[in-house]
Amino acid sequence: MSAPVLTISNLVAGYVPDVPIVRGASLNVIPGSILTVLGPNGAGKSTLVKAIAGLVPVTSGTVMLDGKDVTSTPAHAVAGLGIGYVPQTENVFTTLSVVDNLKVSGSPSASDTRMAIERMFVLFPDLAERRRHLGRELSGGQRQMLAFARALMRSPRVLMPDEPSAGLSPKMVGIVFEKLQELAATGVAVLMVEQNAKAALRASDRGLVLVEGKERLEGPARQLLDDPRLGELYLGKIDEAA
Ligand SMILES: Nc1ncnc2c1ncn2[C@@H]1O[C@H](COP(=O)(O)OP(=O)(O)OP(=O)(O)O)[C@@H](O)[C@H]1O
Ligand SMILES: [Mg+2]
Repeated sequence: MSAPVLTISNLVAGYVPDVPIVRGASLNVIPGSILTVLGPNGAGKSTLVKAIAGLVPVTSGTVMLDGKDVTSTPAHAVAGLGIGYVPQTENVFTTLSVVDNLKVSGSPSASDTRMAIERMFVLFPDLAERRRHLGRELSGGQRQMLAFARALMRSPRVLMPDEPSAGLSPKMVGIVFEKLQELAATGVAVLMVEQNAKAALRASDRGLVLVEGKERLEGPARQLLDDPRLGELYLGKIDEAA
């Protein structure tokens, strides 16, 4: 098995001083694999990926990317390092066209950006067909694909989508997860946050349940699917780490 590309160790992060939301979380993601972070509402899942993306202050712990310490890298520099974050909401510019959404997510090099846009249109043919459409004119599924494409413009080694299946039809959920599997097959490490536990685990290699900012259960996705503790953690029936 290859070495992890992203390693999070004992991460503590929160929005205001002395109120940790992520409380000592640790995880790692292998290139070409999907790790899904599950957990009850308010567990700190979004805060965890935001802290990795430089959007929430980190108090202690480390974020290592390819063996390099990138903890507390400011958000504007994170994409350039190779981490593509896809926010849970407001992840496309509704008043910009598809092509302009991609353009503003490119690197400082105009020629690299042009090439990246062409790569995205090969990867997402639906977006190529709608390149002049505005963000707000896209369906929910197309919007999610555009959000992925924006995060992929800088060829990240780690893609972090936050609840990519939220609000989508079951059919579209399947398409979104298939696309993530296709991306992982190219070597990208996917660290995904999801509420849709079963469908997400079926598409993932590993899963992790975050409760009160700390991982409580971690393992191969297939094993977690059959683990009764999964449901119990969601319902708050387990008090101590099992
Ligand atoms: N911008 C913010 N400022 C202050 N506190 C926040 C902010 N965003 C989230 N929180 C708090 O952090 C905690 C964890 O929120 P977070 O959004 O990380 O949870 P989550 O696991 O992603 O939940 P959900 O499944 O509902 O998306 C919550 O108690 C929330 O109130
Ligand atoms: Mg969230």
